Amino acid sequence: VIAFFQPKLLSGKRVLVTAGPTAERVDPVRVISNRSSGKTGYAIARAAREAGADITLISGPTALPCPYGVKRINVESAREMHAHVLGQAHNADIFISVAAVADWHISNASEQKLKKTDKNGPQPPHIAFAPNPDILAEVAALKDGPWCVGFAAETENLHEYAQAKRQRKNIPLLVGNLAQEAMDADTTTFVLFDQNGHQDLPLLPKQQAARELIHAIANRLSDRA
Ligand code: CTP
Ligand code: CA
Repeated sequence: VIAFFQPKLLSGKRVLVTAGPTAERVDPVRVISNRSSGKTGYAIARAAREAGADITLISGPTALPCPYGVKRINVESAREMHAHVLGQAHNADIFISVAAVADWHISNASEQKLKKTDKNGPQPPHIAFAPNPDILAEVAALKDGPWCVGFAAETENLHEYAQAKRQRKNIPLLVGNLAQEAMDADTTTFVLFDQNGHQDLPLLPKQQAARELIHAIANRLSDRA
């Protein structure tokens, strides 16, 4: 009912969203992952849908139901997410990269379940890491690619790190928040960083913060047009 009264700010736009963590296999039954419930990314997908956009949500493993009217593709690893995002990016007007993407995958993952002990006693594995692709940076570098929005969950020096991250990834808008505040919570405090500086939003329920972000995105797109 509420959605019906929202102004259709993104009517006709195609929005690609990533959300949740990615998980990197150690063996068929064990993964290394990032802490992310997916709530923020799903709230943004829902808010963009309320604003009239056509949404593709590429989601790592979460416990959340697919928002109404949203097309969801479920993935596990960062490399899988990368393949789906790059496959869809040319069909998107806007890319919102909310996923907590694992920075590394495990280069010596085992095909069979590792056993914790052998005849010599406990055998903790020796895990070797290799870098994952930076999905957002690659999409931002595409010729004629979508307008990109990044996220940065930092634990300290939020303003400094987030603005530097926006510039490094070469994206017009980056949303910063403090990991320790947003994680596992239903509320969040967004700081929006763009070429002109930053704007602090108040502490808000994630769905409300998501709507504010959609407004901020729509304003910037209409300024550009
Ligand atoms: N991101 C991505 N692919 C990766 C890593 C990050 O698309 N392999 C995206 C995230 O979805 C987020 C943004 O990049 O929108 C910033 O992620 P973050 O982890 O904060 O930055 P990193 O560049 O990975 O730097 P670090 O983890 O060292 O802070
Ligand atoms: Ca990272």
